[in-house]
Amino acid sequence: MIGAGAREHALVQALSNDPAVTALACAPGNAGTATLAAQLGVDATDPAAVAKLATSWSADQVVVGPELPLVAGAADAVRAAGIACFGPSAAAARIEGSKAFAKDVMAAAGVPTARSELVDNPGRLDAALNHFGPPWVVKDDRLAAGKGVVVTGDLEMARVSALTLLDGGHPVLLESYLDGPEISLFCLVDAGGTVVPLLPAQDFKRVGDGDTGPNTGGMGAYAPLPWAPDSLAADVVHRIVAPVVTELARRGGDSSGAFTGLLYAGLALTSSGPQVIEFNCRFGDPETQAVLALLRTPLAGLLMATATGALAAQPPLQWDPGAAVVVVMAAEGYPGTPRTGDVITGADGPGVLHAGTRRRDDGTVVSAGGRVLSVLGTGADLAAAREHAYQRVQQVHLPGGHYRTDIGLPATRRENGRFVAG
Ligand code: AMP
Ligand code: GLY
Repeated sequence: MIGAGAREHALVQALSNDPAVTALACAPGNAGTATLAAQLGVDATDPAAVAKLATSWSADQVVVGPELPLVAGAADAVRAAGIACFGPSAAAARIEGSKAFAKDVMAAAGVPTARSELVDNPGRLDAALNHFGPPWVVKDDRLAAGKGVVVTGDLEMARVSALTLLDGGHPVLLESYLDGPEISLFCLVDAGGTVVPLLPAQDFKRVGDGDTGPNTGGMGAYAPLPWAPDSLAADVVHRIVAPVVTELARRGGDSSGAFTGLLYAGLALTSSGPQVIEFNCRFGDPETQAVLALLRTPLAGLLMATATGALAAQPPLQWDPGAAVVVVMAAEGYPGTPRTGDVITGADGPGVLHAGTRRRDDGTVVSAGGRVLSVLGTGADLAAAREHAYQRVQQVHLPGGHYRTDIGLPATRRENGRFVAG
């Protein structure tokens, strides 16, 4: 397992529960993964180093968690070393690595998404802003860990955000605003083009309760969506994911360009149907923590089937019938510069997944990043899962830490007998 977040801790936990797994290592890992897997050192963004580590460890399979190693070509290097890899090639990872590439693929595949304009010249900014908003959506065209987007009804704020990027030499993508509840649908995709959706989830991106404050990497999530029709996943696969997978394979020309791994569709469910906000080339964090908590199908075999083009022969996925909620505990200062080195207590035992943590030589666990922990609750329904998650949060102490108190809350409410969207 390559990576060091709570997503990787959740993946390592699920892999360690699969009896088919005889040995597990995580690089670079964190204080949580270290309790379940051998902890190895690696510069994950160096593809040759990742492949060398996998070879020296005689790994049967490498699972790459984060986007940066994938965009850099880690999966290509691992496959070139003759080892099965769960994760797309650098060519296919551009679906996340370049928003302009993603827009181009979607246009070619006829997939609905926001109208957009790339601005690389400050002199063109005002004219371009006039083509959009309010609200204005201003994006950094580079990878920005979910933090590179400003959505604002204030034209001056949109201008300033765009100019800051342009002054730094970075092109800006302006987009039309997509109105509607946002969801994340993760799909396993193999080189043969088979697409298997996981449970849909919802992520809470803003730092504050009631969706206030700046965007973050994600402050919490829940799955499944009690308010969504059962047909949602199949509909999104049919209208959006499958056409994009086909287009990526067509562009690849050979199997190296085809997508293999996890294709994450971030969607807005607008009044005119689902539209794409973004694609990611890997499992989402924190949604993965919630989704995997409900997956009964052994994970290692599933990821191996994806990596080896055998998804079509897999039996249907098995899920727990309940709900899962994950609450992110973040360090003081996050999503700005997080304070690190705070001693964490109460995090041992079930229900707590580590992200930015480190175990000191004296055995204490200290914070070492922005998103520090993912606290998980499961239950028969969303309300019960929320209750369990927040009970567990109360047992954890992170000095200066903060978390949202409303993860999953809107979707526990009913209007006219029906659950409402988050
Ligand atoms: P991204 O990094 O593209 O996922 O954007 C981060 C967040 O910004 C999304 O989860 C949305 O909440 C918001 N966002 C991005 N693009 C749009 C859009 N075109 N319309 C509405 N909200 C958006
Ligand atoms: N949860 C958002 C992301 O993983 O990008």
